[in-house]
Amino acid sequence: MQEKFEEIKIKAREELKNISSLKLLNDIKIKFVGKNGEVTSLLRGMKDISADKRSEFGKMVNDLKEEVNAYIEKKESELKEKELQARYEKESVDITLPAKEEKSGSTHPLTLVKNQIIDAFSGMGFEVFEGPEIDSDYYCFQALNIPKDHPARDMQDTFYFTDNILLRPHTSPGQVRTMENKKPPIKILSPGRVYRADDDASHSPMFHQIEGLVVDKGVSLCDLKGLLDEFVKIMFDSETKTRFRPSYFPFTEPSVEVDVTCCKCHGKGCSLCKGTGWIEILGAGVVNKNVLEMSGIDSNVYSGLAFGCGIERIAMIKYGVSDIRTFFENNVKFLKQFDRR
Ligand code: DAH
Repeated sequence: MQEKFEEIKIKAREELKNISSLKLLNDIKIKFVGKNGEVTSLLRGMKDISADKRSEFGKMVNDLKEEVNAYIEKKESELKEKELQARYEKESVDITLPAKEEKSGSTHPLTLVKNQIIDAFSGMGFEVFEGPEIDSDYYCFQALNIPKDHPARDMQDTFYFTDNILLRPHTSPGQVRTMENKKPPIKILSPGRVYRADDDASHSPMFHQIEGLVVDKGVSLCDLKGLLDEFVKIMFDSETKTRFRPSYFPFTEPSVEVDVTCCKCHGKGCSLCKGTGWIEILGAGVVNKNVLEMSGIDSNVYSGLAFGCGIERIAMIKYGVSDIRTFFENNVKFLKQFDRR
């Protein structure tokens, strides 16, 4: 009997020696110490053992079982350790490898220019107010001294939803909304999208404007000149000069169109300025008294000045972009040129 026990021990040890997986280990466990395993089966031989030797026999089988279990446990912890090591190796990360380059976008040139304009004016005390893109005939025209059937409505090919509701063709309604809600002194900028039925290399059906409005006591065209002189020096360069040309807008009186010395040739004449040395950048003027009054501002006490410029136009002049449509095509090569990082 002793021999049989020894044989099982050696066999279990031998078989455990050669295995390399927890799955096989489990098979061996079943084979030796499972319900019908070789060690457990020995107990079935109990009935052939004489009564006085039975307890000794039982103890021997239990010892054997414990011994075989100990082999198995030892092997199990060895295999688990090995498996863990293998996993560590597989999952290890080489922290010395160069990182994958993260591609990130950059500020759109129109946002860049809008922010530059806002920065220039906020340095002079202006606040930003954004009005709605879908607006009423009243805010877009009537309150700006452009009654129904006024010929000035033809200056803008407006998209109408109904007779009264439309896509704003300019940011000038921002002036009205501000004056209705704010008491002078007022100094605001109103940037945003505007819409007109127009489409060629220098016009887009959707484009951006920025409106400026100052209302205070004693504000005059001289203040407008000073303000815009300062603005163009910040926006282009310190040599840039402005020139006022008489013009007409129903909401300003007098009205002017403002030119700057060409940022490419500095006034000598080149292809950008079509040989004149000057480039038009915006429309402006002294706010028409009717406009002040309609928005509840006493025109005997206060006066105002206003200006409106196209953001695309400024960006095209500043960066030498010849076709407005390039701003909206999302060609990454074009956009990357404005990446300031
Ligand atoms: N709203 C005008 C346009 O879209 C631009 C403009 C001109 C705005 C003169 C003004 C202004 O505030 O005073 O063409």
